[in-house]
Amino acid sequence: MRRHFHRIQSFAKKSLKVGAVVVVGVLVYKELSGNGNNVLHASWTTNYEPTVKWNSNWDRREPQSLVQPVRGGGDAEQADYHQKIDSQTPKTSRHLILIRHGQYFDNATADKERFLTSLGRAQAQLTGERLKELNLPYTSLISSTMTRARETASIIHKSLPHLKHVQDDSLREGAPIPPEPPLGSWRPEQKQFFQDGARIESAFRKYFYRANPEQTEDTYEIIVCHANVIRYFVCRALQFPPEGWLRLSLAHGSITHVTIRPNGRVSVRALGDHGFMPVPQISYS
Ligand SMILES: *[C@@H]1O[C@H](CO)[C@@H](O)[C@H](O)[C@H]1NC(C)=O
Repeated sequence: MRRHFHRIQSFAKKSLKVGAVVVVGVLVYKELSGNGNNVLHASWTTNYEPTVKWNSNWDRREPQSLVQPVRGGGDAEQADYHQKIDSQTPKTSRHLILIRHGQYFDNATADKERFLTSLGRAQAQLTGERLKELNLPYTSLISSTMTRARETASIIHKSLPHLKHVQDDSLREGAPIPPEPPLGSWRPEQKQFFQDGARIESAFRKYFYRANPEQTEDTYEIIVCHANVIRYFVCRALQFPPEGWLRLSLAHGSITHVTIRPNGRVSVRALGDHGFMPVPQISYS
């Protein structure tokens, strides 16, 4: 009888332990799966919920964020508020035409010796002709100050001589953010990410924003710069994880066309388009 009691007692203890483990397990599972915020619901299933919502005030230019709301207030105050919102609402779009420079000599260390190869010059020529053929109402031609970008822009300039060629240091090539997944063969110092990352982000904020409310016509800015910079811009503009930039690949002289609409929505009309290049002229490195 006593032995039997002991057995029951030991069984009860074991059950308690098993029970505790199960409870802890359930709690850990609940904690990890959260309230659903971290659960990926694939878009091809019927339980679709966006994993990340579009931030409509990504450029801090949403009219509602620029005008102080009125609380209560009479008709006059309400009318004044709506008038202010209207005056802060963009009416036009901004198009950013991002061009990767042509192939260049990457065997030199000094930037001025890292100029375009003859293929690189041919690519820039083809890109210029393509831009002219597209016949968009271009408003500016901006390039990075690096030799390969300046040269590419100068060649493009010949096809679009009515534009003024402006240069900008903030568009120089660099390491925007440590890529995920990491690439074994490409691992610049963390310091480089720390410095370049902030500078390339500053270039993003300088060029990516919805139109000013005063802008009366759509703008088409040609920006000749670099693969890492363009890839980071595209990820940021689309609100995709920026650390995924290295998963994109852009050919030399390729065209990436980003549109920013008056309401701040962004769409990529072309990504690394090089379909206008004859096959022997296509290169990536
Ligand atoms: C790079 O390579 C090219 C072509 O092979 C050559 O003409 C040039 O002198 C090289 N530059 C350097 C700095 O090694």
